[in-house]
Amino acid sequence: MTEETATGTGAATGTGAATGTVAVVGAGGVGAFFAGYLLAAGRADVTLCVRTPFDELVVESERWGETLRFRPHVVADPAVLTGALEAPVDWVLLATKAHQTDGAAGWLRALTGAGTTVVVLQNGVEQVERVRPHVEPGTRIVPGIVYSGVEPLAPGRIVHRTNGFVLVPERDPDERFAPEDAARLDALFASDRGFVRTVADVTTALWQKLCANVVANGITALTGRRIEVLRRDDVRRVALALAEECLAVGRAEGASIGADFAAATIDRMVDMPAGAGSSMLFDRLAGRTLEHDALYGAVARAGHRHGIATPTSDAVGALLAAVSDVLGGREGA
Ligand SMILES: NC(=O)c1ccc[n+]([C@@H]2O[C@H](COP(=O)([O-])OP(=O)(O)OC[C@H]3O[C@@H](n4cnc5c(N)ncnc54)[C@H](OP(=O)(O)O)[C@@H]3O)[C@@H](O)[C@H]2O)c1
Repeated sequence: MTEETATGTGAATGTGAATGTVAVVGAGGVGAFFAGYLLAAGRADVTLCVRTPFDELVVESERWGETLRFRPHVVADPAVLTGALEAPVDWVLLATKAHQTDGAAGWLRALTGAGTTVVVLQNGVEQVERVRPHVEPGTRIVPGIVYSGVEPLAPGRIVHRTNGFVLVPERDPDERFAPEDAARLDALFASDRGFVRTVADVTTALWQKLCANVVANGITALTGRRIEVLRRDDVRRVALALAEECLAVGRAEGASIGADFAAATIDRMVDMPAGAGSSMLFDRLAGRTLEHDALYGAVARAGHRHGIATPTSDAVGALLAAVSDVLGGREGA
């Protein structure tokens, strides 16, 4: 049983003026989660830039025992942004799947400019490179490492189960991002839960997350089984090979990750409740295209740069690509 804790619209209603304009591009699981808690705080003017429109946003948080409901400002076409929203906005939270980034280019062009920071709420390690071709000059781009277990149930309706925050780099010399910028974004959530947290060594954090993703996502999506499949000895060996290959490449990229991280990551997954799944498994079951390239393709590309072979990862990536080819009518491969 959850408690209704907040209702409202997309307009800033908190005490004092709005402290920022935020466009959330892609309001599936992750986008709707962060949008919902921004709307609950009432500090920012929030616009949801979506592909499939909806009237009501419902965020059911099992983790925090509450349900948020809003009638937010939803726009489904970048061409109609003019007049509805003053661009460039302060913040873009990009929360499409990684392979949907090119499709969201119209939003990125319309929303960004000098003074905009795009926080890329996507898995993988190539967030900045993926987004850079699509933004206007002067835009800052930072990777967001999402730790929030969220599942989309229907357009505008999600359930939040675990964690509930994003890690951003403490500093990013190339992009001129500093701790006070992360604090400004976190302040828009007006909460001591720490929706936006900083990490000093972002390379290590990105590769640690990628390691967990290459293990859990591919194996569950290919086998059609929940995370309990890792309890099989033969599957655990595949998982360990995936993790070790990913981490070898990550270390070559500058991540500092200890020798026991791979086994510890798999042990943690084995200890999860038997029904736990992965977002790639849920995408396959729902007939949506798979985010294989941002995970396995990224390992292969970085491995190639360092002359490190990644045969297990390449094989899993190829099988996932073949599965994804015949999913997702709207996007094709
Ligand atoms: N879900 C999690 O628990 C979780 C946790 C950690 C990290 N992540 C990562 O976070 C990222 C987002 O994942 P997600 O689970 O939120 O994905 P998702 O539920 O599939 O949501 C993606 C949303 O983007 C929308 N979209 C696609 N193309 C668009 C476009 N051109 N313009 C506007 N909206 C567009 C989709 O719209 P449609 O409804 O029309 O398809 C969908 O609502 C991924 O990289 C994922 O790996 C997810």
